[in-house]
Amino acid sequence: MQNQFDLAVIGAGAAGMMCAAVAGQRGKKVVLIDHAAKLAEKIRISGGGRCNFTNLHAGPQNYVSANPHFCRSALSRYTAQDFLALVKRYRIAYHEKHKGQLFCDHSAEQIIDMLKAECDAGKVAWRMPCTVEAVGKDGDIFRLDTSAGQIHAAHVVIATGGLSIPKIGATDFAFRIAKQFGLKLIDPKPGLVPLTFDANAWEPFVPLSGIALEVDIETGQKKSRMQFREDLLFTHRGLSGPGVLQISSYWDSGTPIAVNLVPETDIAEALIQNKAVSKKNIGNLLPQWLPGRLAEGMLALNGVRPDARLADMPDKQLRKLGESINRWLLTPNGSEGYRKAEVTRGGVDTRELSQQTMMTNKVPGLHFIGEAVDVTGWLGGYNFQWAWASGVAAGLSI
Ligand code: FDA
Repeated sequence: MQNQFDLAVIGAGAAGMMCAAVAGQRGKKVVLIDHAAKLAEKIRISGGGRCNFTNLHAGPQNYVSANPHFCRSALSRYTAQDFLALVKRYRIAYHEKHKGQLFCDHSAEQIIDMLKAECDAGKVAWRMPCTVEAVGKDGDIFRLDTSAGQIHAAHVVIATGGLSIPKIGATDFAFRIAKQFGLKLIDPKPGLVPLTFDANAWEPFVPLSGIALEVDIETGQKKSRMQFREDLLFTHRGLSGPGVLQISSYWDSGTPIAVNLVPETDIAEALIQNKAVSKKNIGNLLPQWLPGRLAEGMLALNGVRPDARLADMPDKQLRKLGESINRWLLTPNGSEGYRKAEVTRGGVDTRELSQQTMMTNKVPGLHFIGEAVDVTGWLGGYNFQWAWASGVAAGLSI
């Protein structure tokens, strides 16, 4: 029957294509549905157009989730090396950039073409562009009302991703379906996103826009404390760069972040030791550790004149200045939101899902995979690895 399938996958992005290909290649009759006119836009724009398609070190420790152990099973059954083997089979040239991050040498399009070819090998049927108006269940069979007519399937996999970058087709479809079937959600929030500050409070730092430096950045207290050593970038509205994106996925509204602008040096100690020997002004001394404009900014923040002679400055004042450089405390007023977020934190509560099959416990046959699930990877290829691994887990279970 033309519109009867073993599996209907909604969302032909990273996770959806992987899942459809795996199930199709196991002989299942699969249809893949997407509302977009253009295939897999998020893969296309990822990694600056070169797709950071996995990370060699991906493990549960690189993911944020209300249940940090949930992703372990899928990630261990389909590893970065497994995806890399597929990439090599398609002779896609790649390179390691930084901390295990693998990128295409040429273009993210190659990953899209590879996944499309894998779907073709599984004889996956396509409905695209196609809108899903309603999802219902008659007995054991799901009924999808779509702009391409009714579709019936024994299993439905929701792979419509999260809310980030609405202008390329992100929707809350997964969360609406979860609610319709009575499944719990972990409150979705923007993740891997630049942080912003109150415009008045940030005004003194606007001239620093464009400055980038490696920092230690942390948020949270005790057990929830998280720290990264990565680059930070000053922007007109706040802070960005890999370090800030990473910490944003752990940051709770209303709480501070702490930035160590010179991680390798105790600035207070260094200044106090220099006091006896240096005839320099503080404004001439600080730039040996910090970019000049940032050094000026930190002096202004502490009410210290750049022409103050180091030898004349009391230790107490140097300690305060050092502390503000080695542990600069700032409280963001928010983030740049889904418009700029690379991912959505939160999503379908993992307690609703089987970690082996990604199927919901309450609604047999209904699965959620990829970014729609409350598993959010760090920056650096971890989110795609979760998309592939959760897609394979569902695809193998059908
Ligand atoms: P994905 O978003 O890939 O796919 C969802 C699909 O569902 C889309 O095709 C969409 O059109 C479709 N859809 C949505 N609503 C629908 C509806 N109502 N009906 C039908 N279809 C619907 N990660 C990484 O590991 N390395 C990287 O280099 C990057 N780079 C990057 C850059 C930028 C700018 C962004 C925004 C994100 C990244 N990411 C990333 C994150 C990564 O792109 C993301 O985590 C995965 O694409 C998630 O895969 P999914 O398949 O879950 O969703």
